[in-house]
Amino acid sequence: MGDVNRLPPGTAAGALRRAWSPGRVNLIGDHTDYNAGVALPMAVDLGTTVTFVPGDSGRVVLRSDRDPDPADVDLDTALHPERLRSVEPRWARYVAAVVAAVRPGHGGQGTVTTTLPVGAGLSSSAALEVATALALGFEGDHLTMARTCQRAEQAATGVPTGIMDQLVVSAARPGHALFVDFADLSTRHVPVPDGVDIVVVHSGEERALDRSAYATRRAECDAAAHRLGPLGEVSPQVAGAIPDPLLRRRARHVASECERVRHFARALARGDLAEAGQLMTASHRSLAGDFEVSTPALDALVDRLTQTPGVFGARLTGAGFGGCVVALAEPGAVDLTAYRSGAWRVRAAGGASLLDPD
Ligand code: GLA
Repeated sequence: MGDVNRLPPGTAAGALRRAWSPGRVNLIGDHTDYNAGVALPMAVDLGTTVTFVPGDSGRVVLRSDRDPDPADVDLDTALHPERLRSVEPRWARYVAAVVAAVRPGHGGQGTVTTTLPVGAGLSSSAALEVATALALGFEGDHLTMARTCQRAEQAATGVPTGIMDQLVVSAARPGHALFVDFADLSTRHVPVPDGVDIVVVHSGEERALDRSAYATRRAECDAAAHRLGPLGEVSPQVAGAIPDPLLRRRARHVASECERVRHFARALARGDLAEAGQLMTASHRSLAGDFEVSTPALDALVDRLTQTPGVFGARLTGAGFGGCVVALAEPGAVDLTAYRSGAWRVRAAGGASLLDPD
């Protein structure tokens, strides 16, 4: 759709708002956010732009470059999964949920364009939510933005997702990853060293969290936490002592993953990329073995990448069940053209912001 960025006729140029949000890649720390654990995600230089021109129609209408059908949302939309489930096309559920969560004072129309692969574990949904909220006029600090858009994500999908994605795409700083402690939602900007490639490779498997075992994993963690307390705050030894074998494996992943996140942040700070890479690969093994959120395609990508000279380590990134793998590598070590489903060399971007209208 080549004309998606064209403004509606008669638009006053000053009224246009244009917002951009990055996606994110999680360097390490998956399925820790809803367990009061820690993670180290990074905003990436792929993202989503939303333009919006206020009008008086009582509806928010956004046209996307990825779908011929627009999101056409009543301003009175309720923030309720049952209601949002009937909204079509599916991406419009996120727009509808943001409208319901932000409650803009007026309708209008605009456009959505993205450079992110959708359904790939790079938080295209968080980018859409946060950019839409900004374009609609949301004002608030990063944490309030993240909480608002997390509520929108949960209502749009019916899945009890954590806050990691919305927080990092809101609060990131260029050149840095974001260390997040989900026990108190404190954050710290961690410099990403120069002279290292962060490579993202798509498995080709698109996934939607509402059709995945995400909610089941969260319920399993909650059951384990009922015995032990928040899993992000227990040691792997304590987690490993739960009698139930399934809950033991889930808890062991979360507890050991949080240890790996802390070691990884320290390794990155001293420039020990070999150690950082090993921790990433260990994280993948834990997500695949103990947490069971990997797939044969993700495992095969991790094996191929870790066998490539100059690659320090690789792991699935985000929820799993398909999507992407992230690798840490010497500059140029990974031939992006060798991966048919898409591969990107990403840089640490800053968080979402309003852009100049043109
Ligand atoms: C998805 C969720 C996040 C987080 C990750 C797994 O991206 O939206 O809250 O739980 O999965 O780490």
